[in-house]
Amino acid sequence: MKTLLEQTFSQVNIGILVVDKQYIITLCNDFITNHTQQDNTEIVGSYLFNTFPTLPKKWLQRRIDSIVLLKNSSFISWEQRPSLFDFASSRPITGINEKMIQNCTLFPILDDENQVSHICITVTDATATAVTQLRLKQISNRLNKEKKEQQRLIDKLEETKNQLLQSEKMASIGQLAAGVAHEINNPVGFIKSNFASLKSYAEDINSAIGKYNDIIRTLENEVVYESVDNINNEHDVEFVLEDITSLLTESFDGISRIEDIVKSLKHFSRADTNQWEKTDINQGIEETLKVVAHELKYIAEVEKNFGELPPVECLPMQVNQVLVNLLVNAGQAIGPDKSDGKITITTQHKNQYVAIVISDNGKGINEENLVKIFDPFFTTKAVGQGTGLGLSLSYNIIKKHSGDITVESALGKGTSFTISLPITQNADDELDS
Ligand SMILES: Nc1ncnc2c1ncn2[C@@H]1O[C@H](COP(=O)(O)OP(=O)(O)OP(=O)(O)O)[C@@H](O)[C@H]1O
Ligand SMILES: [Mg+2]
Repeated sequence: MKTLLEQTFSQVNIGILVVDKQYIITLCNDFITNHTQQDNTEIVGSYLFNTFPTLPKKWLQRRIDSIVLLKNSSFISWEQRPSLFDFASSRPITGINEKMIQNCTLFPILDDENQVSHICITVTDATATAVTQLRLKQISNRLNKEKKEQQRLIDKLEETKNQLLQSEKMASIGQLAAGVAHEINNPVGFIKSNFASLKSYAEDINSAIGKYNDIIRTLENEVVYESVDNINNEHDVEFVLEDITSLLTESFDGISRIEDIVKSLKHFSRADTNQWEKTDINQGIEETLKVVAHELKYIAEVEKNFGELPPVECLPMQVNQVLVNLLVNAGQAIGPDKSDGKITITTQHKNQYVAIVISDNGKGINEENLVKIFDPFFTTKAVGQGTGLGLSLSYNIIKKHSGDITVESALGKGTSFTISLPITQNADDELDS
């Protein structure tokens, strides 16, 4: 007949194993026998590491020895060693864990002389807790991942919004320019025609005065001759007549230039902004230069080395926008204080591509910034001066053309951007314009 204490010890839902200092099992309960499927008589008296060959022998021996020495207890959590004893789970959750996950405790049993005589090992089934915790961890990981993905989407949305803003700004500048160009066109037209008439009237007057002078000379009347000569000298008529011609010629040239600029503005800001067209890139650069002329005028001399280019299939307005961004950046990098500012624009035809190289002798970009300049919002300019979107937008436009944009720079010496554009687009690329 077992005592109540013995019954409790046998039946408690915790594995209890007692070993002596030589690792011989002295006692164990039903939890242990049930999970090893061995009889109590087989287990008791056996060497711990023979009965449980999967135990980490050296590690556990060291732990037991230190308990003997220090008389302390030790906790082995499932997170540290999920299954110290190779037991099947008493509540296997199919597909997740067939092995029992355990929390184990080791503590010393002291004799009457307060010496460690035995070591007790307890085993608690922590499978359910562990599985729940692992699930929670998985869920939390998933949530974190989703949160990161959402943040990425928010960032992307923000970036797209700003790009949209910038292209809207460019589009409205374009519309404004087109409107102004249209308004200027009419007065310039009649001024030019008036000047043409003025020029011919001036020529008439010039020739008439010449004829008067000839007649006066033939009169051989000294008094008349002298008075006319006086009037001519007083009014500097000879110079005036000469200057009128050159003033009119100069003004006529000026008006032709205005006409040219207006034409470029109109062309630059064509309404059909998103049409793929076979375009003359050199002409596009000329037009763009006229548009940014006022930005560069007192800053840099612009040298053009244009090669002969085939027409390039592109979105001309957008390519112009890239050129504006690069030229304005070059001007800003040179700045108003440099006396020998220079921007060189080179174009070249290479196999299936054309290359546009825009170089400046401005302040250059340091290595650290060089990798960031195409990032949206990266700017070294003062607040309100730069949004940091110019190059990122340019990069996207060139990529949309299946082209490439690269940069080389030397601090204090200058920067060179190279754009290469394929001459023709393949059909798939055009679809996502
Ligand atoms: N030619 C250049 N020389 C030196 N630095 C340059 C040059 N081009 C670009 N950078 C650097 O790259 C940064 C980013 O250029 P980006 O055109 O994208 O923006 P931004 O010019 O600062 O502002 P935004 O173009 O929106 O007005 C600039 O702030 C500048 O530091
Ligand atoms: Mg810029």
